[in-house]
Amino acid sequence: MQKTEMPTMEEMELTVSGRPAPLSDVMKEFRTQMHLYAAGIRTVVMKLETMDEEFHAKYDYNPIHHIESRLKEPRSIFDKMNRLGIAATIEEMKKSLTDIAGVRVICNYISDTEKVAELLLKQDDVELIRKSNYITHPKESGYRSLHLVVSVPVYLSERTERVPVEVQIRTIAMDCWASLEHHLRYKAAGDVPEDLRYRLKICAMAISEVDTEMQEIKRAMDRLPR
Ligand code: GTP
Ligand code: MG
Repeated sequence: MQKTEMPTMEEMELTVSGRPAPLSDVMKEFRTQMHLYAAGIRTVVMKLETMDEEFHAKYDYNPIHHIESRLKEPRSIFDKMNRLGIAATIEEMKKSLTDIAGVRVICNYISDTEKVAELLLKQDDVELIRKSNYITHPKESGYRSLHLVVSVPVYLSERTERVPVEVQIRTIAMDCWASLEHHLRYKAAGDVPEDLRYRLKICAMAISEVDTEMQEIKRAMDRLPR
């Protein structure tokens, strides 16, 4: 496959609000936009932590095992826009990329993933942009997770801006598979041979059975007299 050359900085369309602008203005605008995404991450993480604390206080149970978050690196943003064949402008970035702000929620049980998604989406200021349920419909690789792209408000001094945040919700077992598979694929640096992809998929299916069984055991334990 022919490698597409990356445009140089000079070739990039340097615009702010659709108008040509010097590089320093573009960088300033980019930084401002990244601050908004970072604020979006904080908003979603705070909502999730509050939800988890409430559950702990009310039911002595935590649906969330832990939360991770990341802001996409400028290099990855640029590479993705190049891959998508869209102009490297801030306007296009805002329009086309919804995973610059990313939050990963690792839950204990499958039922927790559904509950966390439901409660997050129920909040008045959270708008659902897209939902992909790779738990009920796993990806060809075997990957399972519940993906939400939501928009949340970020309150600035003179206006309120909504920013998209990608929320990946999965169990510890799903996270274990995804982390190892990602690491192996990254190390392969090229296409993973079909037999190995097949074996990874078998592992994903085995992990899925463990998740289902652990869920059943929890339900049975919950029914035991206290
Ligand atoms: P990206 O260009 O990667 O953002 O893909 P997308 O916009 O089509 O979204 P998709 O829902 O397919 O995947 C988004 C994210 O889910 C990825 O960036 C990964 O974090 C995760 N993901 C999706 N598929 C796999 C997979 O097969 N293995 C692993 N380990 N992670 C995956
Ligand atoms: Mg992504």
